[in-house]
Amino acid sequence: MRRRTFLKGSMAACATAASGAWGISAPAQAGERPLLPIPTLMDVGRSGRLKLAAQQGETAFLGGRKSPSRGYGQAYLGPVVRARQGQEVAVDLQNRLDEKLATHWHGLLVPGEMDGGPHQAIAPGESWQPVLPITQPACTAWFHAHTHPRTAPQVYSGLAGVFQVSDGRDEERGLPTDFGVDDLTLVIQDRQFDDAGRMRYEPGMFGRMHGFQGDRILVNGAPEPRAPVPRSVVRLRLLNGSNARIYHLRFEDGRPMHLVASDSGYLPGVADTETLRLAPGERAEVLVDFRDGRPVSLITGPDRNQGGPGMMGMMSMLRGEASALIEGDSLVLSFHPDERKPARIDSIPDAVADPMPPLPDRVDGTRRFRLDMMLGGMPMMSRGGPTMGINGRPFDMAYLNERVRLGAVERWIVESDMLMHPFHVHGVRFRVLSDEKGSAVRMENRGYKDTVLVDGRAEILVEFTQPAAAETPFMYHCHILEHEDAGMMGHLAVG
Ligand code: C2O
Ligand code: CU
Ligand code: CU
Repeated sequence: MRRRTFLKGSMAACATAASGAWGISAPAQAGERPLLPIPTLMDVGRSGRLKLAAQQGETAFLGGRKSPSRGYGQAYLGPVVRARQGQEVAVDLQNRLDEKLATHWHGLLVPGEMDGGPHQAIAPGESWQPVLPITQPACTAWFHAHTHPRTAPQVYSGLAGVFQVSDGRDEERGLPTDFGVDDLTLVIQDRQFDDAGRMRYEPGMFGRMHGFQGDRILVNGAPEPRAPVPRSVVRLRLLNGSNARIYHLRFEDGRPMHLVASDSGYLPGVADTETLRLAPGERAEVLVDFRDGRPVSLITGPDRNQGGPGMMGMMSMLRGEASALIEGDSLVLSFHPDERKPARIDSIPDAVADPMPPLPDRVDGTRRFRLDMMLGGMPMMSRGGPTMGINGRPFDMAYLNERVRLGAVERWIVESDMLMHPFHVHGVRFRVLSDEKGSAVRMENRGYKDTVLVDGRAEILVEFTQPAAAETPFMYHCHILEHEDAGMMGHLAVG
């Protein structure tokens, strides 16, 4: 009986998709494309105060009709907040929306009561004042809506921003530091628009099962923009702020990306790569050499989470036009070296951080997590959408799934048998012991991480250094936001 509902649902999703404006856009000439928006830098290093207001706004994404959108202190997205390692940041976060809102600091190592999970939702018109102790190593973190079960629509509407932790030593490391010039923050998201150019969020059954994807790629809110850059080495701080899309980023001319940092900070060595995989929630910092003065595009390959074998493949076929999303490359943004921009850095450093410390020889325990797209072997429906879970249980605000001892080092084994899932844990940084069935750990996963893409199975080693009471626990969940909202999330207390 459930199954019939499910199939009917997927046919309906198919019909919706077929009537919409699908297919990868053929982006216009560079000259007609928008300039890369440079977010406002909000450096709280001196004041130690961060005032943010979540608000409703309007954005003309495609230059035409305005769409309702949301942001932190602006119409869409938020500023780039920069804090100094060693300081405290007193936050005043106001909710000026007409619905409740939780805001989480993804990647910040702070105690549970400041973490901003769904248990800390702010009522409309109210505010929240956590004081964040910034003690962790330099990294590019972010903040975003985390209201259960409204995270996916809220983040999609624009409730996200970047949070940099700085230790003031980037000059010494030989890294570009000129914000918006040779140090670019790029929030990558995909979005759908209707024929009138209004941003649209209507996940049918397909979008709820696979996660909702768009056919246009926005960078800092602009579709496939162009970025003038100096003729030098430039640093790109990449954040995958998409609900569900996994990017396989590469330059169309094959030039290398020099990976210097991942989620939780700098890597011990600089890793050169032609393709960089970035799943929802993940961050990466790469250095790119534009000294040859040639314009070049950053593109992304197909995301195989949209197709695949078994039922997922069947759903893609039912949807008919899925192939437009599955095959082919899409433009993300293009870079245009400009003589007039100050060129400062002309070489790639050999290393930017100390070698990784050896793995701790003590492991206090092992836990297993199975990411379930279906519960009891069948797609379960409630409130018009699927119910998903972890270890057979959908997320329940009132049920504490796990308790961990403060200071413990644990091995977590995360498994899934359908699609790939970016698994994220709050309040920790971890090391990846294995990611894809059996092979060596991918280059992207060799540093400290807070999100790892689980392709069948992943094993991580987690050290719990931050406390979290049962009333304000840490979350662990899939960062495909439709999966998270469907219940692929759990929570843990640390103490
Ligand atoms: Cu980026 Cu629990 O989230
Ligand atoms: Cu988080
Ligand atoms: Cu998932």
